[in-house]
Amino acid sequence: MSTEPADWKFETKQIHSGAKPDPVTNARATPIYQTTAYVFNSSEHAKNLFALAEFGNIYTRIQNPTQDVVEQRVAALEGGTAALFVSSGMAAETMAILNIAQAGDHIVSSSSIYGGTYNLFKYTLTKLGIETTFVENQDDADEWRRAVRPNTKLFFAETIGNPRINILDIKLVSDVAHEAGVPLIVDNTIATPYLIRPFDFGADIVVHSATKFLGGHGTVMGGVIVDGGKFAWSKNVEKFPGLTEPDPSYHGASYTTVLGDAIAYIIKARVQLLRDLGAAIAPASAWQIIQGIETLSLRMERHVENASAVATWLEAHPQVESVYYASLPSSPWHTAANRYAPKGVGAVLSFELKGGVEAGKAFVDSLTLFSHLANIGDVRSLVIHPASTTHSQLTPEQQLTAGVTPGLVRLSVGLENIADITADLETGLAAAGKVA
Ligand SMILES: Cc1ncc(COP(=O)(O)O)c(C=O)c1O
Repeated sequence: MSTEPADWKFETKQIHSGAKPDPVTNARATPIYQTTAYVFNSSEHAKNLFALAEFGNIYTRIQNPTQDVVEQRVAALEGGTAALFVSSGMAAETMAILNIAQAGDHIVSSSSIYGGTYNLFKYTLTKLGIETTFVENQDDADEWRRAVRPNTKLFFAETIGNPRINILDIKLVSDVAHEAGVPLIVDNTIATPYLIRPFDFGADIVVHSATKFLGGHGTVMGGVIVDGGKFAWSKNVEKFPGLTEPDPSYHGASYTTVLGDAIAYIIKARVQLLRDLGAAIAPASAWQIIQGIETLSLRMERHVENASAVATWLEAHPQVESVYYASLPSSPWHTAANRYAPKGVGAVLSFELKGGVEAGKAFVDSLTLFSHLANIGDVRSLVIHPASTTHSQLTPEQQLTAGVTPGLVRLSVGLENIADITADLETGLAAAGKVA
């Protein structure tokens, strides 16, 4: 754990947390430690590392010094106790869940989530014996409460829902989760810790697709799990035996007994699940994500400025039916946005064009500055039609519960000059108008 000044501000942490000049070479920037394994100082040292009696590097599938810097940095930015980087956002979500749920267990999730996450829960976790109940109105505390069963192990939601851009009432949902004795895991990808700090409002675990705004340039894949350190696993011994009872695959150690509640969850995810599932992040990817994070606040400020301007501009356009962006006073989540994301709700927004699917296709096909692709969180402006792409594996009914209507278009507004962004959108809207 870090020894940096507790009162460092976000902008300082995003550059310095977890990093020091390299002790061997004096290199100022964090090096890419491109090695698979690490030499033990002695047999005693090796024994201690394997027994968790001493922390240190063993093998890059489990940890790496470049990865360690980015883990400490994200933990500091989120205000958590520790973090674990893995190969993608999907890997982070899968491991965050498998770390506390197994065959025979049940989880409760908002239905307003990224299509890939919905598939993971609905199909792949079901095959592994973990059942999901989807809550359709995540703002309804009673719907969460009614979904709880004796074998429920966690609640899951996105702090800013993709693509409906709804803001999670983190306090409301975490209170219900805690009543049920389970943690709330939130996906904070769209917000980033610069805009929303979920642990401040009661969330227990945060996951990110670092592929998006943390990396920030559309060049690298990664995912991260952050432990808030406050959930009392050891007070729920029967619910979370994987954390509290001896692990036969790890010298019979009980993670909560050896490590305490504050870091047991994240260490177990590393030394047991990452060891066995192997979804490690490459050192070069960890390094690239460090470069991205160093400018996170600056990029998010400009993303918010551009996206807010685009949302206001679109809402006033005669070709546009409706705009989903929680900072707009017309949004049902406007009040929640002011409470949870006072600096803004990020770069992603969706809107409904007059003329439905055909207008949507004409719009997307005529843009030239916006790239038509399946990603968000790039410095470049991006566009996609979710019903035919990111959410296409869902049935039309499932799409609707995720907020995906046939004519919905999603934008991830980049950092280009706002005049060039709106000029491109104007071209798209003119093309859409011809087929509407
Ligand atoms: C909100 C959200 N969470 C998770 C993911 C999955 O992340 P990755 O693509 O890094 O596996 C995505 C990807 O689009 C996403 O948008």
